[in-house]
Amino acid sequence: MSTKAYQYLTPTLMTSLERIAGRGNVLTSAEDLEKYSLDEMAHRRPYRPGAVVIARDADIVSGIMRLASRHRIPVTPRGGGTGLSGGCIPLHGGIVLSLEKMDRILEIDETNQMAVVEPGVTLGALQEAAGARGLSYPVYPGEKSATLGGNIATNAGGMRAVKYGVTRHFVLGLEAVLAGGQVVNAGGKFVKCTTGYDFTQLLTGSEGTLAVITKATLRLGYPPASREILFVPFPGLETAIEAVPDILRCSIIPAGLEFMERDIIQLAEEYTGREIPCSRHGAFLLIILEGNSREEVLQASRQIENAVRRHHAVDVFVPPSEKSGRDLLDAREKFYQVIRRLGRVELIDTVVPRSLIPRFLGQVKDLARRHGIEVIAYGHAGDGNVHLHPVGRGLSPQDWETRLPALMKAIYETAIEMGGAISGEHGLGFDKRPYFQAFASPELLGVMKAIKHALDPDNILNPGKLF
Ligand code: LAC
Ligand code: ZN
Repeated sequence: MSTKAYQYLTPTLMTSLERIAGRGNVLTSAEDLEKYSLDEMAHRRPYRPGAVVIARDADIVSGIMRLASRHRIPVTPRGGGTGLSGGCIPLHGGIVLSLEKMDRILEIDETNQMAVVEPGVTLGALQEAAGARGLSYPVYPGEKSATLGGNIATNAGGMRAVKYGVTRHFVLGLEAVLAGGQVVNAGGKFVKCTTGYDFTQLLTGSEGTLAVITKATLRLGYPPASREILFVPFPGLETAIEAVPDILRCSIIPAGLEFMERDIIQLAEEYTGREIPCSRHGAFLLIILEGNSREEVLQASRQIENAVRRHHAVDVFVPPSEKSGRDLLDAREKFYQVIRRLGRVELIDTVVPRSLIPRFLGQVKDLARRHGIEVIAYGHAGDGNVHLHPVGRGLSPQDWETRLPALMKAIYETAIEMGGAISGEHGLGFDKRPYFQAFASPELLGVMKAIKHALDPDNILNPGKLF
């Protein structure tokens, strides 16, 4: 994909940006450019844009894209900036097009159980607005300040995918601005649609490389009447993961089914200053059950308790209060923050068939030993999405730099050999681009590049990502 001959933002072009977006909506101070040069991945080298444009509506987005395509200026769309793969980083400078101020919830449609939102609406704001009307948006990628536009662009997953699915299962329609500035509407307030190619779903997960999302129609559901959390210690990871298929056979599919080992639990205890029950054991499953009645949830909870005990669970801890349950979930949600404090750290979010998680993790541990790098593992046991953090504590910078690439490559290779994929929920951004290039089939890569070329022939939309 050509990235040559992008045009710099000359004073004349800056004036054009201000004319289109409004004067106060074009940011160029050193502080702003710094702020929009990063995402939430730790210890990144910043890539500064030439300007940040705060878009207030789709017409402005369209005007910016027209200008950008006429002059071949790179445009990097950005939501909350909470990504972890570099998707929102302006690798080639140019314009960061921030959608964060397009943050209106246009409609909560109770009859059709749908929401129509602008892309800058945060996950937290949608949850609140849906909740106030007795509805819920069940996907939970874990970061409430993330915007829905960003969630859609990365097809974000999270803890609740095992029961409810990922973001794409809730996206019914999109309005988007193409590279040349044309506004396209696809899908709508209906669940079924066999009317041509599914452009809505093509844009979902396309990481801002095909179009800029300016409006979304999302499916909502009803919140569960009852919830129970089970925290189950096991002697080791193998026994914990072996219990997963039996847990999934119980009368309710858990909303969340997470695995973790002692090392991350102990780090989380240090970070939050709160003790986690049973934390001296080897490995754990965190199970979130949701159902339509207390009886239904308790029945499933008993079935799960029997199932995990058959698989050598040491104990089954049920938080005695709403607060202690929340504390447990809160500790789980902070894992990445806990780990990024350890200094040099990488993040893998690979996915394998969930039955192969124990074998995959066994091989990863062998690889970690062989390459001399510590790897912390946890993840979404219910859907096969494994998070691995190579960490550099105890290593010299040189050892880290020389050993890490080979370890990363070997881990991805192992996942792919098992029928897995490079990224389950964070997206490729540019961090995982080399591995995608190395491991995707040439045929599939060819199809994807043809789509990219058809929609963005000058490669101005988020260049340097994916390919
Ligand atoms: C999590 C993020 C890192 O699962 O995806 O905590
Ligand atoms: Zn995750």
